Amino acid sequence: MKYRILGRTHFEVSDMAYGLWGMSGWTGSNDDESLKALQLSVDLGCNFFDTAWAYGEGKSDGLLGEILQRDNFSNPPVYRLYAASKIPPMNDMWPATPEYKYSEVFPAKHVFKYAKLIREKLREDSIDVLQFHVWDDSWTDEPEFRETVEKLKADKWIRSFGISINRWEPENGLKAMRTGLVDVVQVIYNIFDQAPEDKLFPLCRELNVGVIARVPLDEGSLSGKMNAQTKFPPHDWRARYFGPENLPETIARVEELKKVLPAGMTLPEMALRFILSNPDVSTTIVGMRKHDHVRQNLALSDAGPLDAALLQKLKSHRWDRKWEPWAD
Ligand SMILES: NC(=O)c1ccc[n+]([C@@H]2O[C@H](COP(=O)([O-])OP(=O)(O)OC[C@H]3O[C@@H](n4cnc5c(N)ncnc54)[C@H](OP(=O)(O)O)[C@@H]3O)[C@@H](O)[C@H]2O)c1
Repeated sequence: MKYRILGRTHFEVSDMAYGLWGMSGWTGSNDDESLKALQLSVDLGCNFFDTAWAYGEGKSDGLLGEILQRDNFSNPPVYRLYAASKIPPMNDMWPATPEYKYSEVFPAKHVFKYAKLIREKLREDSIDVLQFHVWDDSWTDEPEFRETVEKLKADKWIRSFGISINRWEPENGLKAMRTGLVDVVQVIYNIFDQAPEDKLFPLCRELNVGVIARVPLDEGSLSGKMNAQTKFPPHDWRARYFGPENLPETIARVEELKKVLPAGMTLPEMALRFILSNPDVSTTIVGMRKHDHVRQNLALSDAGPLDAALLQKLKSHRWDRKWEPWAD
Protein backbone atom coordinates (compact mmCIF):
# COMPACT_ATOMS: atom_id res chain seq x y z
CA MET A 1 0.00 0.00 0.00
CA LYS A 2 1.24 3.47 -0.85
CA TYR A 3 0.61 6.47 1.35
CA ARG A 4 0.35 10.16 0.52
CA ILE A 5 0.20 13.28 2.65
CA LEU A 6 -3.28 14.76 3.01
CA GLY A 7 -2.30 18.36 2.34
CA ARG A 8 -1.61 20.51 5.34
CA THR A 9 -3.17 18.07 7.79
CA HIS A 10 0.14 16.18 7.38
CA PHE A 11 -1.80 12.93 7.88
CA GLU A 12 -0.11 10.09 6.03
CA VAL A 13 -3.04 8.30 4.44
CA SER A 14 -3.35 5.29 2.15
CA ASP A 15 -3.94 6.51 -1.40
CA MET A 16 -6.61 3.83 -1.81
CA ALA A 17 -9.14 4.43 0.93
CA TYR A 18 -12.63 3.53 2.02
CA GLY A 19 -16.04 5.17 1.57
CA LEU A 20 -18.76 3.96 3.94
CA TRP A 21 -21.94 5.28 2.34
CA GLY A 22 -22.99 1.99 0.73
CA MET A 23 -22.89 0.01 3.96
CA SER A 24 -25.62 2.13 5.54
CA GLY A 25 -27.54 3.59 2.68
CA TRP A 26 -27.63 1.09 -0.17
CA THR A 27 -29.54 -2.14 -0.52
CA GLY A 28 -27.61 -5.36 -0.14
CA SER A 29 -25.63 -4.38 2.95
CA ASN A 30 -25.04 -6.61 5.93
CA ASP A 31 -23.43 -5.14 9.05
CA ASP A 32 -21.40 -8.22 9.89
CA GLU A 33 -20.04 -8.40 6.33
CA SER A 34 -19.36 -4.65 6.35
CA LEU A 35 -17.36 -4.88 9.57
CA LYS A 36 -15.38 -7.80 8.19
CA ALA A 37 -14.72 -5.87 4.96
CA LEU A 38 -13.53 -2.85 6.96
CA GLN A 39 -11.25 -5.01 9.08
CA LEU A 40 -9.89 -6.72 5.97
CA SER A 41 -9.03 -3.30 4.53
CA VAL A 42 -7.13 -2.37 7.71
CA ASP A 43 -5.25 -5.65 7.56
CA LEU A 44 -4.28 -4.80 3.97
CA GLY A 45 -2.96 -1.34 4.88
CA CYS A 46 -5.94 0.98 4.35
CA ASN A 47 -5.93 3.70 7.00
CA PHE A 48 -8.35 6.37 5.78
CA PHE A 49 -12.12 6.09 6.05
CA ASP A 50 -14.84 8.48 4.94
CA THR A 51 -18.25 8.43 6.55
CA ALA A 52 -21.05 10.90 7.38
CA TRP A 53 -23.81 11.25 9.92
CA ALA A 54 -26.26 11.08 7.00
CA TYR A 55 -25.15 7.52 6.21
CA GLY A 56 -27.84 5.78 8.22
CA GLU A 57 -28.17 8.49 10.91
CA GLY A 58 -24.81 7.71 12.44
CA LYS A 59 -24.78 4.04 11.47
CA SER A 60 -21.63 4.20 9.29
CA ASP A 61 -19.93 6.39 11.91
CA GLY A 62 -20.73 3.67 14.46
CA LEU A 63 -19.38 0.84 12.30
CA LEU A 64 -16.19 2.79 11.77
CA GLY A 65 -16.00 3.55 15.50
CA GLU A 66 -15.95 -0.17 16.18
CA ILE A 67 -12.99 -0.64 13.84
CA LEU A 68 -11.13 2.40 15.22
CA GLN A 69 -11.61 1.15 18.75
CA ARG A 70 -10.32 -2.27 17.81
CA ASP A 71 -7.29 -1.17 15.80
CA ASN A 72 -6.18 2.21 17.12
CA PHE A 73 -6.10 0.78 20.63
CA SER A 74 -4.75 -2.64 19.89
CA ASN A 75 -1.48 -3.18 21.64
CA PRO A 76 0.75 -2.28 19.89
CA PRO A 77 -1.41 -0.34 17.40
CA VAL A 78 -1.17 -1.65 13.83
CA TYR A 79 -0.81 1.92 12.55
CA ARG A 80 -2.75 5.13 12.82
CA LEU A 81 -6.24 5.00 11.31
CA TYR A 82 -7.89 8.24 10.19
CA ALA A 83 -11.61 9.02 10.20
CA ALA A 84 -13.36 11.65 8.11
CA SER A 85 -17.03 12.35 8.75
CA LYS A 86 -19.59 15.00 7.80
CA ILE A 87 -22.14 17.30 9.38
CA PRO A 88 -25.53 17.04 7.62
CA PRO A 89 -27.26 20.24 6.45
CA MET A 90 -29.83 21.33 9.06
CA ASN A 91 -32.43 22.08 6.37
CA ASP A 92 -31.91 18.58 4.93
CA MET A 93 -31.59 20.01 1.41
CA TRP A 94 -29.19 18.43 -1.09
CA PRO A 95 -27.33 20.00 -2.74
CA ALA A 96 -26.74 23.42 -1.22
CA THR A 97 -27.77 26.42 -3.28
CA PRO A 98 -27.41 30.19 -2.69
CA GLU A 99 -31.16 30.31 -1.94
CA TYR A 100 -30.50 28.80 1.46
CA LYS A 101 -29.02 30.98 4.14
CA TYR A 102 -25.95 29.76 5.99
CA SER A 103 -27.91 30.13 9.24
CA GLU A 104 -30.49 27.61 7.94
CA VAL A 105 -27.86 25.05 7.05
CA PHE A 106 -24.90 25.15 9.46
CA PRO A 107 -25.74 27.27 12.54
CA ALA A 108 -23.15 26.71 15.27
CA LYS A 109 -25.61 24.94 17.56
CA HIS A 110 -26.41 22.39 14.87
CA VAL A 111 -22.75 21.86 13.93
CA PHE A 112 -21.69 21.27 17.54
CA LYS A 113 -24.65 18.98 18.20
CA TYR A 114 -23.70 16.71 15.29
CA ALA A 115 -19.96 16.97 15.94
CA LYS A 116 -20.67 15.65 19.44
CA LEU A 117 -22.84 12.81 18.12
CA ILE A 118 -20.17 11.85 15.58
CA ARG A 119 -17.41 11.89 18.22
CA GLU A 120 -19.50 9.52 20.32
CA LYS A 121 -20.14 7.16 17.41
CA LEU A 122 -16.49 7.20 16.34
CA ARG A 123 -15.45 6.84 20.00
CA GLU A 124 -12.85 9.58 19.42
CA ASP A 125 -12.39 12.84 21.35
CA SER A 126 -11.15 14.61 18.26
CA ILE A 127 -12.38 13.97 14.71
CA ASP A 128 -9.48 13.78 12.23
CA VAL A 129 -11.37 15.41 9.36
CA LEU A 130 -14.79 16.97 9.88
CA GLN A 131 -16.48 18.12 6.69
CA PHE A 132 -19.62 20.06 5.90
CA HIS A 133 -21.65 17.62 3.80
CA VAL A 134 -22.82 20.35 1.40
CA TRP A 135 -21.41 23.74 0.56
CA ASP A 136 -22.23 26.92 -1.30
CA ASP A 137 -19.53 29.54 -1.74
CA SER A 138 -22.02 32.37 -1.13
CA TRP A 139 -21.75 31.47 2.58
CA THR A 140 -18.01 32.08 2.77
CA ASP A 141 -18.08 35.51 4.40
CA GLU A 142 -20.59 34.59 7.12
CA PRO A 143 -18.81 35.39 10.39
CA GLU A 144 -20.47 32.34 11.99
CA PHE A 145 -18.66 30.07 9.52
CA ARG A 146 -15.25 31.29 10.62
CA GLU A 147 -16.20 31.33 14.32
CA THR A 148 -17.55 27.79 14.17
CA VAL A 149 -14.55 26.25 12.43
CA GLU A 150 -12.08 28.10 14.65
CA LYS A 151 -13.90 27.00 17.80
CA LEU A 152 -14.10 23.37 16.68
CA LYS A 153 -10.33 23.45 16.22
CA ALA A 154 -9.52 25.49 19.34
CA ASP A 155 -11.61 23.14 21.52
CA LYS A 156 -9.86 20.18 19.84
CA TRP A 157 -13.14 18.65 18.72
CA ILE A 158 -11.58 18.32 15.28
CA ARG A 159 -8.05 18.06 13.93
CA SER A 160 -8.89 19.46 10.50
CA PHE A 161 -11.82 20.89 8.59
CA GLY A 162 -13.08 20.13 5.11
CA ILE A 163 -15.91 20.75 2.72
CA SER A 164 -17.59 18.18 0.56
CA ILE A 165 -18.12 19.92 -2.74
CA ASN A 166 -21.48 19.53 -4.48
CA ARG A 167 -21.79 17.03 -7.30
CA TRP A 168 -20.59 18.46 -10.63
CA GLU A 169 -19.74 21.90 -9.18
CA PRO A 170 -16.02 21.49 -8.49
CA GLU A 171 -15.48 25.24 -8.45
CA ASN A 172 -18.12 25.92 -5.78
CA GLY A 173 -15.64 25.91 -2.92
CA LEU A 174 -12.73 27.93 -4.26
CA LYS A 175 -13.77 31.02 -2.29
CA ALA A 176 -14.08 29.09 0.96
CA MET A 177 -10.63 27.61 0.41
CA ARG A 178 -9.13 31.08 0.27
CA THR A 179 -10.30 31.81 3.85
CA GLY A 180 -7.59 29.50 5.16
CA LEU A 181 -10.20 27.55 7.15
CA VAL A 182 -10.38 24.60 4.75
CA ASP A 183 -7.70 21.94 5.14
CA VAL A 184 -9.29 19.32 2.91
CA VAL A 185 -11.79 19.17 0.05
CA GLN A 186 -13.78 16.16 -1.03
CA VAL A 187 -14.81 16.19 -4.68
CA ILE A 188 -16.13 13.85 -7.34
CA TYR A 189 -13.20 12.93 -9.56
CA ASN A 190 -13.11 9.95 -11.92
CA ILE A 191 -12.60 9.16 -15.62
CA PHE A 192 -15.87 10.91 -16.46
CA ASP A 193 -15.64 13.77 -13.99
CA GLN A 194 -12.29 15.38 -14.80
CA ALA A 195 -13.37 19.01 -14.28
CA PRO A 196 -11.65 19.37 -10.86
CA GLU A 197 -8.38 19.46 -12.84
CA ASP A 198 -9.28 22.88 -14.26
CA LYS A 199 -9.31 25.15 -11.21
CA LEU A 200 -9.82 23.16 -8.04
CA PHE A 201 -6.67 21.04 -8.10
CA PRO A 202 -4.35 23.97 -8.96
CA LEU A 203 -5.73 25.92 -6.00
CA CYS A 204 -5.35 22.88 -3.72
CA ARG A 205 -1.73 22.70 -4.80
CA GLU A 206 -1.20 26.40 -4.15
CA LEU A 207 -2.81 26.29 -0.69
CA ASN A 208 -1.65 22.77 0.22
CA VAL A 209 -5.25 21.63 0.71
CA GLY A 210 -5.72 17.86 0.77
CA VAL A 211 -7.84 16.24 -1.96
CA ILE A 212 -10.22 13.37 -1.26
CA ALA A 213 -11.45 12.02 -4.61
CA ARG A 214 -14.91 10.55 -4.12
CA VAL A 215 -17.26 8.43 -6.25
CA PRO A 216 -14.28 6.93 -8.11
CA LEU A 217 -16.46 4.38 -9.89
CA ASP A 218 -19.27 6.80 -10.77
CA GLU A 219 -21.53 5.13 -8.17
CA GLY A 220 -20.83 1.74 -9.74
CA SER A 221 -21.10 2.32 -13.51
CA LEU A 222 -17.30 2.15 -13.83
CA SER A 223 -17.37 -1.32 -12.30
CA GLY A 224 -18.34 -2.36 -15.85
CA LYS A 225 -20.95 -4.72 -14.43
CA MET A 226 -24.06 -2.70 -15.22
CA ASN A 227 -26.00 -2.70 -18.48
CA ALA A 228 -28.96 -0.88 -20.02
CA GLN A 229 -31.35 -3.24 -18.19
CA THR A 230 -29.84 -2.75 -14.72
CA LYS A 231 -32.47 -1.91 -12.11
CA PHE A 232 -32.14 -1.09 -8.40
CA PRO A 233 -34.90 -1.48 -5.81
CA PRO A 234 -37.10 1.66 -5.76
CA HIS A 235 -35.97 2.79 -2.29
CA ASP A 236 -32.27 2.49 -3.25
CA TRP A 237 -30.81 5.89 -4.19
CA ARG A 238 -29.23 4.34 -7.29
CA ALA A 239 -32.69 3.67 -8.78
CA ARG A 240 -32.99 7.44 -9.20
CA TYR A 241 -29.39 8.13 -10.21
CA PHE A 242 -29.35 5.35 -12.79
CA GLY A 243 -32.85 6.12 -14.07
CA PRO A 244 -33.92 6.72 -17.68
CA GLU A 245 -32.33 10.20 -17.80
CA ASN A 246 -28.86 8.88 -16.97
CA LEU A 247 -28.52 5.12 -17.43
CA PRO A 248 -28.57 4.85 -21.26
CA GLU A 249 -25.90 7.51 -21.82
CA THR A 250 -23.80 6.18 -18.94
CA ILE A 251 -23.82 2.66 -20.37
CA ALA A 252 -22.98 3.94 -23.86
CA ARG A 253 -19.99 5.83 -22.44
CA VAL A 254 -18.87 2.85 -20.37
CA GLU A 255 -18.93 0.72 -23.55
CA GLU A 256 -16.66 3.29 -25.26
CA LEU A 257 -14.26 3.09 -22.33
CA LYS A 258 -14.12 -0.69 -22.54
CA LYS A 259 -12.69 -0.29 -26.07
CA VAL A 260 -9.54 1.41 -24.73
CA LEU A 261 -8.92 -1.13 -21.95
CA PRO A 262 -5.42 -2.56 -22.23
CA ALA A 263 -5.28 -6.36 -22.42
CA GLY A 264 -5.56 -7.91 -18.99
CA MET A 265 -6.84 -4.75 -17.27
CA THR A 266 -10.35 -4.52 -15.82
CA LEU A 267 -12.47 -1.39 -15.99
CA PRO A 268 -12.40 -0.75 -12.21
CA GLU A 269 -8.63 -1.12 -12.32
CA MET A 270 -8.33 1.45 -15.09
CA ALA A 271 -10.78 3.77 -13.31
CA LEU A 272 -9.02 3.65 -9.94
CA ARG A 273 -5.51 3.86 -11.34
CA PHE A 274 -6.61 6.83 -13.47
CA ILE A 275 -7.39 8.71 -10.26
CA LEU A 276 -4.19 7.77 -8.48
CA SER A 277 -2.15 8.70 -11.57
CA ASN A 278 -2.87 12.30 -10.64
CA PRO A 279 -0.45 13.49 -7.93
CA ASP A 280 -2.92 16.23 -6.94
CA VAL A 281 -5.12 13.53 -5.41
CA SER A 282 -4.23 12.68 -1.82
CA THR A 283 -6.53 9.68 -1.54
CA THR A 284 -9.57 8.14 -3.22
CA ILE A 285 -12.42 6.68 -1.18
CA VAL A 286 -13.92 3.67 -2.88
CA GLY A 287 -17.32 2.39 -1.80
CA MET A 288 -16.87 -1.34 -1.26
CA ARG A 289 -18.70 -3.98 0.73
CA LYS A 290 -17.68 -7.18 -1.02
CA HIS A 291 -14.45 -8.64 0.26
CA ASP A 292 -13.22 -9.36 -3.27
CA HIS A 293 -13.63 -5.69 -4.12
CA VAL A 294 -11.62 -4.69 -1.05
CA ARG A 295 -8.82 -7.06 -2.01
CA GLN A 296 -8.79 -6.10 -5.71
CA ASN A 297 -8.98 -2.35 -5.12
CA LEU A 298 -6.40 -2.10 -2.37
CA ALA A 299 -3.93 -4.12 -4.42
CA LEU A 300 -4.10 -1.42 -7.11
CA SER A 301 -2.31 1.08 -4.90
CA ASP A 302 0.94 -0.72 -5.63
CA ALA A 303 0.23 -0.98 -9.37
CA GLY A 304 1.23 2.67 -9.85
CA PRO A 305 0.09 5.18 -12.46
CA LEU A 306 -1.33 4.30 -15.87
CA ASP A 307 1.01 4.88 -18.77
CA ALA A 308 1.05 8.31 -20.38
CA ALA A 309 -0.48 7.17 -23.69
CA LEU A 310 -3.51 5.65 -21.95
CA LEU A 311 -3.94 8.73 -19.74
CA GLN A 312 -3.93 10.86 -22.86
CA LYS A 313 -6.67 8.70 -24.43
CA LEU A 314 -8.78 8.91 -21.28
CA LYS A 315 -8.86 12.70 -21.46
CA SER A 316 -11.37 12.44 -24.30
CA HIS A 317 -13.75 10.44 -22.07
CA ARG A 318 -14.28 13.49 -19.85
CA TRP A 319 -18.01 14.08 -19.35
CA ASP A 320 -19.02 17.48 -17.98
CA ARG A 321 -22.43 17.31 -16.41
CA LYS A 322 -24.75 19.75 -14.69
CA TRP A 323 -26.68 18.90 -11.57
CA GLU A 324 -30.14 17.43 -12.19
CA PRO A 325 -32.89 16.67 -9.66
CA TRP A 326 -32.22 12.92 -10.01
CA ALA A 327 -28.55 13.33 -9.13
CA ASP A 328 -28.71 13.78 -5.34
N1 LIG B 1 -21.71 14.32 -0.85
C1 LIG B 1 -20.75 13.54 -0.43
O1 LIG B 1 -19.96 13.94 0.38
C2 LIG B 1 -20.61 12.14 -0.97
C3 LIG B 1 -21.48 11.69 -1.99
C4 LIG B 1 -21.27 10.41 -2.51
C5 LIG B 1 -20.24 9.62 -2.02
N2 LIG B 1 -19.42 10.07 -1.01
C6 LIG B 1 -18.32 9.26 -0.47
O2 LIG B 1 -17.62 8.63 -1.55
C7 LIG B 1 -17.58 7.21 -1.33
C8 LIG B 1 -17.45 6.48 -2.66
O3 LIG B 1 -18.55 6.73 -3.49
P1 LIG B 1 -19.75 5.69 -3.67
O4 LIG B 1 -19.63 4.63 -2.64
O5 LIG B 1 -20.98 6.49 -3.71
O6 LIG B 1 -19.52 5.11 -5.14
P2 LIG B 1 -18.28 4.43 -5.90
O7 LIG B 1 -17.14 4.26 -4.98
O8 LIG B 1 -18.08 5.21 -7.14
O9 LIG B 1 -18.91 3.01 -6.32
C9 LIG B 1 -19.25 2.06 -5.36
C10 LIG B 1 -19.76 0.82 -6.09
O10 LIG B 1 -18.70 0.21 -6.81
C11 LIG B 1 -18.65 -1.18 -6.49
N3 LIG B 1 -17.26 -1.62 -6.56
C12 LIG B 1 -16.21 -1.26 -5.77
N4 LIG B 1 -15.07 -1.87 -6.14
C13 LIG B 1 -15.39 -2.67 -7.20
C14 LIG B 1 -14.65 -3.54 -8.01
N5 LIG B 1 -13.34 -3.75 -7.83
N6 LIG B 1 -15.30 -4.19 -9.00
C15 LIG B 1 -16.60 -4.01 -9.22
N7 LIG B 1 -17.38 -3.17 -8.48
C16 LIG B 1 -16.78 -2.50 -7.47
C17 LIG B 1 -19.21 -1.29 -5.09
O11 LIG B 1 -19.70 -2.61 -4.86
P3 LIG B 1 -19.88 -3.25 -3.37
O12 LIG B 1 -20.38 -2.16 -2.48
O13 LIG B 1 -20.89 -4.30 -3.61
O14 LIG B 1 -18.55 -3.81 -2.92
C18 LIG B 1 -20.32 -0.25 -5.15
O15 LIG B 1 -21.47 -0.79 -5.75
C19 LIG B 1 -18.86 6.97 -0.54
O16 LIG B 1 -18.88 5.69 0.08
C20 LIG B 1 -18.83 8.13 0.43
O17 LIG B 1 -17.90 7.88 1.47
C21 LIG B 1 -19.59 11.34 -0.50
